Amino acid sequence: MSNYHIKHLEEYFQVYRKSVRNPEAFWEEIAEEHFVWRKKWNNVLSWDFSKPEIKWFEGAKLNITENCIDRHLPTRGDKTAILFEPNDPNEEALHISYRELHERVCRMANVLLDKGIKKGDRVCIYLPMIPELAVAALACARIGAIHSVVFAGFSSSALAARINDCECKLLITSDGSYRGSKTIDLKGIVDKALDNCPVVKTVLVAKRINTDIPMIDGRDEWLQPLLDEAYADCVAEIMDAEDPLFILYTSGSTGKPKGMVHTTGGYMVYTAYTFKNVFQYREEDIYWCTADIGWITGHSYIVYGPLANGATTVMFEGVPSYPDFGRFWEVVEKHKVNQFYTAPTAIRALAKENLDFIDSHDLSSLKVLGSVGEPINEEAWHWYNTNVGKKQSPIVDTWWQTETGGIMISPIPYVTPTTPTYATLPFIGIQPALMDEEGKEIKGKQVSGRLCIKFPWPSIARTIWGNHERYRDTYFSAYKDMYFTGDGALRDAVGYYRITGRVDDVVIVSGHNLGTAPIEDSINEHPAVAESAIVGFPHDIKGNALYGFVILKEVGESRNRENLVKEINQQITEHIGPIAKLDKIQFVPGLPKTRSGKIMRRILRKIASKDTANLGDTSTLLNPEVVKDIMDGAL
Ligand code: WT7
Repeated sequence: MSNYHIKHLEEYFQVYRKSVRNPEAFWEEIAEEHFVWRKKWNNVLSWDFSKPEIKWFEGAKLNITENCIDRHLPTRGDKTAILFEPNDPNEEALHISYRELHERVCRMANVLLDKGIKKGDRVCIYLPMIPELAVAALACARIGAIHSVVFAGFSSSALAARINDCECKLLITSDGSYRGSKTIDLKGIVDKALDNCPVVKTVLVAKRINTDIPMIDGRDEWLQPLLDEAYADCVAEIMDAEDPLFILYTSGSTGKPKGMVHTTGGYMVYTAYTFKNVFQYREEDIYWCTADIGWITGHSYIVYGPLANGATTVMFEGVPSYPDFGRFWEVVEKHKVNQFYTAPTAIRALAKENLDFIDSHDLSSLKVLGSVGEPINEEAWHWYNTNVGKKQSPIVDTWWQTETGGIMISPIPYVTPTTPTYATLPFIGIQPALMDEEGKEIKGKQVSGRLCIKFPWPSIARTIWGNHERYRDTYFSAYKDMYFTGDGALRDAVGYYRITGRVDDVVIVSGHNLGTAPIEDSINEHPAVAESAIVGFPHDIKGNALYGFVILKEVGESRNRENLVKEINQQITEHIGPIAKLDKIQFVPGLPKTRSGKIMRRILRKIASKDTANLGDTSTLLNPEVVKDIMDGAL
């Protein structure tokens, strides 16, 4: 039992050693003692990173919703499972108990069954942060359907691409959503997307903003009347531990988004175990993660991890700036939040505002502060620590990825001494390695390299939907028998890790993982554009912002530049979403290319971040003269 909840540093080292010396025995014990299985596994782990093939708890049978809901009913039936805080602070918060959650999930599951959804079918969920979102995901899990949640900020074409990639038969959405003082016509976006998605036969529409919207006969149906009629109990489908639980898309450095596939047993065990320890969650605590369930953070640490522990998890519909910049702190005070988990970009935005927004609220309930999504810079770290935590609440800087399913490197609060900007120590069971460019491991302290993981952990993604080869190429081909993260990291004198950022063509903007290639593809579709290159540059709120270098076609040369900038951003918004808009667009006569025709982004990155004192070796360029032109016109 003691291994489940780590309480001091010595214990961490002890348990860590155990988890690394004999991972199978370690995870078997955790899985055995803290979860309910319909049938135990025949084999704890089999793996081969060269294929790659990873199987945890093979042969085991379970349903994750029985672990997240049913098993709590006898002891926590009346406890709040989901605490819904609406966008409008004047609308009452909703306390959904475990019993009520059970009923809601069962009703939704029965509606899906009634619509012909079966085990293994894909269901797309495109919803704002309202209870139906969590309920819909859990309802899929209840019947063994695979959910694919698409963040409701994505555009219609991004939504269509995700629906088509995994061939979702059914889509759950809402009539619209609230976002601060605005409303968004979600159903309009859906309708546009579905023009290009012949596989979707049914659209279930939740009511949220109560506007009149067109409903397409034979395809669209209001959700609530169906739920009202549905039976309030639903037998859980018995799943294999390795059956897919969900698909979640993440952008790659090239090509279309990757549908990361997470499976059931290992994902459940790892997200629950990390949740318990990284947030030091105790029975009476109120836990709040401000992420959207459209991202992995929300899947693992709003829904599955917390609910598997019988926790109370806050679901917040709103934004940090509405009705004013004190909203987060108002919610913390109102619900007496104990663990608060947010992103550096939010912290930096709030740090720009008057401290009165914080000081007018009682934040004394807070015990743990979390950060995720990108490196947290020193200034933001101190601001968070001093003003939110009053130097009393440890900050857990949690490093992980959509692909890893759960937190990989993080302090354990009140256990691991923290250092600003350091994610500190690997979590139990995680075996990081720093690699050099030649493929050799860099051992020892005070070194840096490319961050890899040597050994599988239970919640690693198993494949990319429909493209196992891409899964192998992206994560397992750079270094033999290692999972390559795409991040660079350093290890300091005490063995703490600090993530230094992406080493590939992915830019993290406001904590969102954006591949540059899809954005370039979008820009290049503009009739006036010949070619483009996108790089990230430091931004004081977003962490990184996007800088586009654009070569115009002859037809574009005569066009008004300001209008072109607007049109390009409009196009990106339509193709990908507003998060991918460019902060700066510079029109250039050419792009620095290697002799093999590859754009030398290293140089563009330096120009974009005004770090041109040492551009490095440009002698291998095909067109070195273009560099000076670009520098002269830099924004
Ligand atoms: C990339 C993964 C994990 C949920 C949110 C993002 C960056 C994430 C940290 C951190 C430094 C971080 C990495 C990683 N990242 N957390 N604490 N410190 N960098 O998930 O969209 O899959 O992005 O986010 O670069 O590879 P994601």
